[in-house]
Amino acid sequence: MSVLGKISGNLAFTYFKSVINRSLNVQLALFSSTNMSEIEKKFQLPKAYRGSKPSVWVEYIQLAADYKPLNLGQGFPDYPPPQYVTDALVEVASNRNGHQYTRGFGHPRLVQALSKLYSKIIGREINPLTEILTTLGAYEALYAAITGHVDVGDEVIIIEPFFDCYEPMVRYAGGIPKFIALKPKSTEGDVLSSKDFVLDRSELEGLFNSKTKLIIVNNPNNPLGKVFSLEELTFIADLCKKHNVLCISDEVYEWLVYKPHKHIRIATLPDMWERTITIGSAGKTFSVTGWKLGWAYCPANLMFNLQMIHQNSVYTGCTPIQEAAAIAFEKELTRLGSEDCYFNAISKELEPKRDFMAKFLQETGFKPIVPEGGYFMMADWTPLESQVNLESEQDKYKDYKFTKWMAKKVGLQGIPPSAFYGDDHKHLGENFVRYCFIKRDECLEDAAKILHNWKAGKTAQTSK
Ligand SMILES: Cc1ncc(COP(=O)(O)O)c(C=O)c1O
Repeated sequence: MSVLGKISGNLAFTYFKSVINRSLNVQLALFSSTNMSEIEKKFQLPKAYRGSKPSVWVEYIQLAADYKPLNLGQGFPDYPPPQYVTDALVEVASNRNGHQYTRGFGHPRLVQALSKLYSKIIGREINPLTEILTTLGAYEALYAAITGHVDVGDEVIIIEPFFDCYEPMVRYAGGIPKFIALKPKSTEGDVLSSKDFVLDRSELEGLFNSKTKLIIVNNPNNPLGKVFSLEELTFIADLCKKHNVLCISDEVYEWLVYKPHKHIRIATLPDMWERTITIGSAGKTFSVTGWKLGWAYCPANLMFNLQMIHQNSVYTGCTPIQEAAAIAFEKELTRLGSEDCYFNAISKELEPKRDFMAKFLQETGFKPIVPEGGYFMMADWTPLESQVNLESEQDKYKDYKFTKWMAKKVGLQGIPPSAFYGDDHKHLGENFVRYCFIKRDECLEDAAKILHNWKAGKTAQTSK
């Protein structure tokens, strides 16, 4: 890296750190203040947002910056994306045309490519102009889908563990989240599979009523890695049809499924197209999370609501990023189904990493849950409880204490899964930690070494 690069990197880091510190301090001061000044009172968060707290990501990015552990927390690769993907962006960036606003609901070349891809996969013609919306990451697609369809008092069923933004998005819209947890059929054995985590059918049935507006299904699931089976999806679909409920299907990990498991899109089940909004992410599809490009596809009548939210909040996405993603999709469309298609190659590339992580976690005393999809692994850390000193951490939940203690004393960072549960069910996540395995082999080997050294008592726990 050049000296200038290093300096600007350091400056950016220092700035970023100070912004996080400042915002945390301001938020904490506001939460704890019993004696608010007139200014503070008047400029609190608006009622719809009141009670919002900085997310687990804000806190854990800061933790990583402070203690510099090996970070298996956040979900992104620590190695470059495919060359042809970055080449596409270079090509687009060096063309002096194509740097102005593009069509608000989606860059024409990209919605054409998405339409070609998903029409094939879903088995029906998807109109690129009325049935597809491109967004700032899948995050914005989720926001547009939730706020575009949830009215005050509507109930929304959320399957736990869930990607953490679902709950606040539902609450901001005035909706009432109704949680149901995936629970293990049995916890016997040293290694579990995400397949062992299932929904209680009568509990799910009991959540559907006349106030239910929608259910959010994340398939493959983050953080568990569960890939829902045809029977499970059919059961959910039948309830949606019976109670006239919409399904938001967050499928950002659609290409990350390990054999013999298969990703089934709920929109393809009988009569589900008309009530499903499916969400995807270029960040996950092409391993370019920093591009923050996502999309939703669904029938035009459902899409209108998303378009209105998008039009009046974001209006239009980044033109060069969308053009480059279109080029990448066009390439994959020419080799769809072949071994070298990136959509197939990526899970092949990740499977040995997944297996290596499961092995070293098991060898060092964890009880891993081997995922059927995605690039995260949850593991039960409680067999190691006698080796950790959780007293030194102030948090309410044990998994927060464990992950912080590990980051500070052992030098390995994961994410506390209780962040992915509603308040009443956080205890279900407390025995676990989530690690990400889309990392270089050397990084995973280092993680294994750290844990083996810790197990052997070689970690200088007080020096960190
Ligand atoms: C389940 C799930 N949905 C949505 C997103 C957001 O995706 P994007 O980065 O495209 O906004 C993520 C990101 O980690 C995710 O894990």
